[in-house]
Amino acid sequence: MVISVNTSQNRANTGANARASTKASTRVNTRVNNIGADAKANSDAKIRVCITLGTRPEAIKLAPVIQTFQQLPQFETTVVLTGQHREMVAQVMSLFDLQADYNLDIMQPNQSLSDITCRSLKGLETLFGEIKPDIVISQGDTTTAFAAALAAFYQQIPVGHVEAGLRTDNILNPFPEEANRRLVSQIATLHFAPTATSVVNLTASGVRHGIHQTGNTVIDALLTVADKSPICDVPGLDWDQHRVILSTVHRRENWGAPLLDIAQSCLEILEKFPDTALLLPLHRNPTVREPLKAQLDSHPRAFLVEPLDYGQLVGAMKRATLLLTDSGGLQEEAPGLGKPVLVLRETTERPEAIEAGTAKLVGTDPATVVAAAAELLSNPAAYTAMAKAVNPFGDGHAAERIAQIVTDYFADHFAELSSDQFK
Ligand code: UD1
Repeated sequence: MVISVNTSQNRANTGANARASTKASTRVNTRVNNIGADAKANSDAKIRVCITLGTRPEAIKLAPVIQTFQQLPQFETTVVLTGQHREMVAQVMSLFDLQADYNLDIMQPNQSLSDITCRSLKGLETLFGEIKPDIVISQGDTTTAFAAALAAFYQQIPVGHVEAGLRTDNILNPFPEEANRRLVSQIATLHFAPTATSVVNLTASGVRHGIHQTGNTVIDALLTVADKSPICDVPGLDWDQHRVILSTVHRRENWGAPLLDIAQSCLEILEKFPDTALLLPLHRNPTVREPLKAQLDSHPRAFLVEPLDYGQLVGAMKRATLLLTDSGGLQEEAPGLGKPVLVLRETTERPEAIEAGTAKLVGTDPATVVAAAAELLSNPAAYTAMAKAVNPFGDGHAAERIAQIVTDYFADHFAELSSDQFK
């Protein structure tokens, strides 16, 4: 049986009440492509920022950005959920005390990539036509991120891309994320690159303007949440008695046989090391959760739980001995917390963690995964070498930098257009 862990209440707005909370459409038009007409007449006009998100990692990484924009008087901030994920986003919105202004509510069970793309694109087209943002912010490499950037581009609204420039150089891995992020890079105006490596990747992709190294906003989110000393209580799991292996899996490349290999690896590790326990928060996707449940659920030291909210996940990371994951976000967060990560993938777009020595790419072959885990669990020197707290992804101030860059971008445009009128 999958264990339920208490989660905070869902306070995210949906559908009708979200729309009801939207401000009236009496806003001053400051669109960049016709900013000249308005620039002088409306010098106190606010910059209308529309922040779009659809999945849990976008919500986590945009939460600090939303909070920062909302606190600054020069911005009028609208938050739009596509609804690609439902419960998993609601948890994050609630944790950060955020409300959405609109929810397109596109999620369907077993949705295909085309479903997500078409429904988001169409919904956002209508919405952008109504709310007329000056800039649309999209994050990362999900299908929501791509559809939001494309919808904005079709209406010639500048796009600010948070976490720009990650690359594996294999268009099929991760799928479809590698394609999504490359496509967004081609149409975005402002590229918020987390690291020096991502700046180089953007330049190599032919991006000439608007690249800014900001750090990754995930570190802003992590530090905020880690400061609150979060805990993860799982019925039956004794953190003091067991060395806990925290595992998450959801990637499309791992569906099918690789998923079974991962489950097999976990079973072998549990058998080899009787003092270990496996904590595996299941993704909501039935394609992922059902095979994992079938393989692992009956093991007495395997704790399969519903998706943890972000606070609980950070609490679990802090106490875990080791992480086995195909998640991108965990590869960024675990180094900050000094936890070794074995990455269950063939490629990574986060070489910084590998270079820093806190993550290792192990793929999904049980022999390789078990050998890597066994080395860490039985050799204290190998463990200590990986378990060092480093933060190659940011310093916790990425969101402030992003807000400043957007402010400067619009100030430059006003200045350019005003001086043009005196020529
Ligand atoms: C998506 C992103 C991936 C990101 C991941 C984080 C794409 C192509 N993929 O993958 O980049 O790392 O989110 O989780 O954009 N479901 C629910 N409730 C939820 C969330 C999901 O029921 O709150 C179920 C639904 O059955 C849904 C399925 O999960 O059909 C899969 O969701 P989907 O967004 O298609 O793909 P993810 O694997 O979550």
